[in-house]
Amino acid sequence: MKESHLLFLVFLVLIILTAIVSLSLKGFEYYLMPVELRPFNAEYSTMKPSGSYSHGLGIFGALMIIVGVSVYSTRKRIRALWSIGKLSRWLEFHIVLCLLGPILVIYHTTFKAGGIAAISLWTMLSVALSGIIGRFLYTLIPRNLNGNELSVDEIDKKMEEISTALQTSEVGKQVIQLLDESFEEIQKPRNFSETISTLFKLQRVKSGSQKQTRGLIAGSNVSHDQAKMIISSANARATLLQKSIVLQQVERIFYYWHVIHLPFSIIMFITLAAHVAVALWLGYRWIL
Ligand code: HEM
Ligand code: HEM
Repeated sequence: MKESHLLFLVFLVLIILTAIVSLSLKGFEYYLMPVELRPFNAEYSTMKPSGSYSHGLGIFGALMIIVGVSVYSTRKRIRALWSIGKLSRWLEFHIVLCLLGPILVIYHTTFKAGGIAAISLWTMLSVALSGIIGRFLYTLIPRNLNGNELSVDEIDKKMEEISTALQTSEVGKQVIQLLDESFEEIQKPRNFSETISTLFKLQRVKSGSQKQTRGLIAGSNVSHDQAKMIISSANARATLLQKSIVLQQVERIFYYWHVIHLPFSIIMFITLAAHVAVALWLGYRWIL
């Protein structure tokens, strides 16, 4: 796993835990009370979904989701913006806001859901949960530095570049042979269940070949810098081979995944608009 990705994961987990712990502590007593007894709680006027505190959580949570979706979608679709940061960084921005937003919204509902708002809530949760699977599939598709998907020709070109770098030393040549032989044995999957088992097999083969590569380097007299280059090129080649084997199936699954993630988001936004319209019509204005 790349260092920057690990850092992102640590940041994500910390920020989410902080949000959950602080929001739970703030309303601990209120959330544990049976719904019918809540109106007798001293904090009812601020803690109820239309109260200043919980209403605010709904507004900020919804705003986070709107910003997280629109910024990512705009950056992805408008060519003029393609030079602004890697797409994968913008996806991280999407993930942070679209995980934090739903957490705020859950506390906004005070853990009870009825009417049209319930549809918005359940679609929001389905979209956010399906996002985690989508993020995993996203990493299995080879991409360029900008985060855009590589074509088959681009994958071949990249493989050529890595081979050229490795062929500069005898150990490098052995590493190419080792990797090609290890991955050659693995068949391309033909359906969903074969894809899952192939992913596990590929991970095992990749780890095994990394160990063998280090063994080959240890038994040779290459310099420290050369060893580092061989390890990183071997890793890049193994990753490309790994992704190429499952690519066809992963692209198919990712296509179906979009068919859930995107329309569910649209249903969420439509029902959210209806929910906000009803709230405004009923006279709920938050602190404004
Ligand atoms: C995705 C975002 C949102 C979801 C999923 C959501 C969901 C909910 C749910 C489930 C309830 C509780 C309904 C019940 O009492 O059974 C609720 C209440 C409420 N929400 Fe939201 N909400 C969201 C965003 C917002 C926003 C942005 C506003 C601001 C206009 C808002 C205003 C309210 C108000 C005023 C209530 C209390 C309604 C009442 O007591 O009759 N919500 N919301
Ligand atoms: C309520 C929360 C969320 C909403 C409304 C939402 C909405 C969307 C939308 C509309 C897109 C399509 C963007 C486009 O192609 O223009 C998208 C893409 C995506 N989202 Fe989310 N999302 C949410 C949460 C998440 C979460 C929590 C994750 C990951 C943990 C995630 C991961 C992804 C991924 C991997 C893509 C595909 C990127 C691509 O193909 O370029 N989403 N999301």
